[in-house]
Amino acid sequence: MANLIDGKRISKEIKDELKEKVAKYKEEGTTISLAVIQVGNDPASSVYVGNKKKACEYIGIRSLSYELEENTSQEELLKLIAQLNEDASVNGILVQLPLPRQIDEKKVINAIDPKKDVDGFHPSSVGALVIGEKGYVSCTPAGIIQLLKRSNISIEGKECVVIGRSNIVGKPMSLLLLRENGTVTMAHSKTKNLKEVCKRADILIVAIGKPRFITSDYVKEGATVIDVGIHRNEENKLCGDVDFDDVSKIAGAITPVPGGVGPMTIAMLMNNCVESYLINQK
Ligand code: GUN
Repeated sequence: MANLIDGKRISKEIKDELKEKVAKYKEEGTTISLAVIQVGNDPASSVYVGNKKKACEYIGIRSLSYELEENTSQEELLKLIAQLNEDASVNGILVQLPLPRQIDEKKVINAIDPKKDVDGFHPSSVGALVIGEKGYVSCTPAGIIQLLKRSNISIEGKECVVIGRSNIVGKPMSLLLLRENGTVTMAHSKTKNLKEVCKRADILIVAIGKPRFITSDYVKEGATVIDVGIHRNEENKLCGDVDFDDVSKIAGAITPVPGGVGPMTIAMLMNNCVESYLINQK
């Protein structure tokens, strides 16, 4: 049976480290603030935003909440972002995605001051990652690197296969693995012989968006399998992109869903918020 990579435990460890740091800043008279903007009331977004605010509270970060109507115009949202960009008491700005149809997501991401881009979605944050400069890194892939490092799974020289090429997960994930000296293959929906490609992997990152798609015949014996997916199965229970019961028989280490990658995303958002304080000081 595979070792379980416990994202809940590791995320708690990170949040506790951050809590200590934030307490020190407070002693020095500094409070870190995160502005959280939600447009409309998509139920999944409301859960995510609620969890982000709870994490802020736990760590001691002040969260400023902006709940805008579903029919908010792009101009109104851009105006709010411009105000928050100018406001020196705000360290980080997060606009929960997806946005309603009348709003152009790209324009909104581009409008956030890169110094406050705690999601790491701004083209200048992504560009910095590509050329190996410092900058905010998208939270889910950054969290996966922490899961691997804190589970003593080395990346250097390993065959890493990432399935999925989204801007938020697949692309930054591949770049981060490369930065850690992994040998990286990016697979996607048009990849031929996906099974064979996946079977080469020492580290397999699955962000494919299909429930329980990856079975044991995609996995090399002893490989590390990281599951980014989250779905509800026929019994309304949460499951990932990986068939956990099947793959855990053959993998060396595996993340569960829930309790794997999910909690790490929020922990890394909190980490970016703490870093934002230092970045804004410069
Ligand atoms: N929607 C789903 N995941 C995310 C995320 O990490 N950040 C933001 N802003 N929106 C999301």
